[in-house]
Amino acid sequence: MSTTELQSTIAAIAKAGKGILAADESTATIKKRFDTINLESTESSRRDYREMLLSTKNLGEYISGVILFEETLGQKTASGSLMTELLKQQGIIPGIKVDLGLIPLINSDNEQATRGLDTLVERLTKYKEQGALFAKWRSVYNITDTLPSQQSIATNASLLARYAAACQAQGIVPIVEPEVLMDGDHTIERCAEVTKQVLQAVFAEIKLHKVSLAGMILKPNMVISGASCTTQASTDQVARMTIDVFKQTVPTEVPTINFLSGGQSDIQATENLQAMNALGDLPWNLSYSYGRALQAPSIQAWHGSSDNIAAGQEALLTRCKANSAANLGTYTSDMDKVTH
Ligand code: 13P
Repeated sequence: MSTTELQSTIAAIAKAGKGILAADESTATIKKRFDTINLESTESSRRDYREMLLSTKNLGEYISGVILFEETLGQKTASGSLMTELLKQQGIIPGIKVDLGLIPLINSDNEQATRGLDTLVERLTKYKEQGALFAKWRSVYNITDTLPSQQSIATNASLLARYAAACQAQGIVPIVEPEVLMDGDHTIERCAEVTKQVLQAVFAEIKLHKVSLAGMILKPNMVISGASCTTQASTDQVARMTIDVFKQTVPTEVPTINFLSGGQSDIQATENLQAMNALGDLPWNLSYSYGRALQAPSIQAWHGSSDNIAAGQEALLTRCKANSAANLGTYTSDMDKVTH
């Protein structure tokens, strides 16, 4: 493993004022997003949408890396250049989702494990040739009074660590993404308890598999109230409780934590990131690796029409600028006031 290679990729990704755009929706997930604008999901509509996002002027000022779905990594723009060229022109690093989605965890209570490890090494070799310098693998955990089970926590921690070790062996930076879902009526305290258990298990397996902490990126959920919990925690509580859990579980050698947005509204995701960075005195860079919270206003503004490309790009850039400021701890709500 070349530690220098991993660290130089991370240094570029974790630059001040920058974060990651997650544009790696699987074919099933992008269809759900396109359904909201009544657009059929085809190879060319997916290309048009992602070309709109990735060709946004000045994107590279706020976005240091983009996670792509396999289809996009090898795809060409309408005019025939590679999508990855659009990124390279702006100094943005291409990344790749390498997990193959979720499968039932046998003998569990409807819990899931993530698949893709068997073919991972061959796929990583190919993705690296195509220009990917970092990768992503997502595990999911549902909260109920009794879940997630130890079976799910242990299985997914092991998968995440083995994936991360395989990436580093090929000089690819792993994004380790254990996502505790926000679905449900649980309290923020219950989310804190589960997130702590999950992160403890993940870092124990990371140690066991000798994954370099300095050569990885953590992509966690924030500690928040369940989406249907009647008492929603304040931004300040979210920030304090998230950092409290991380201080107990995330080693200080991990250089950067890039959050997922997980279904929070775009503004909420920005405000929570701002509130955490405003606490100060943190051992890690805290930034974003948002999917929906960066793309939602953009997809609505674009609405599947070439007439709206500029509007879609402007909406994306607005979210990027706001989150960039939140990484620096300088976001204020007037940045999101409509000025036109
Ligand atoms: P969201 O920010 O929409 O949760 O997406 C991030 C991601 O990459 C999920 O795997």
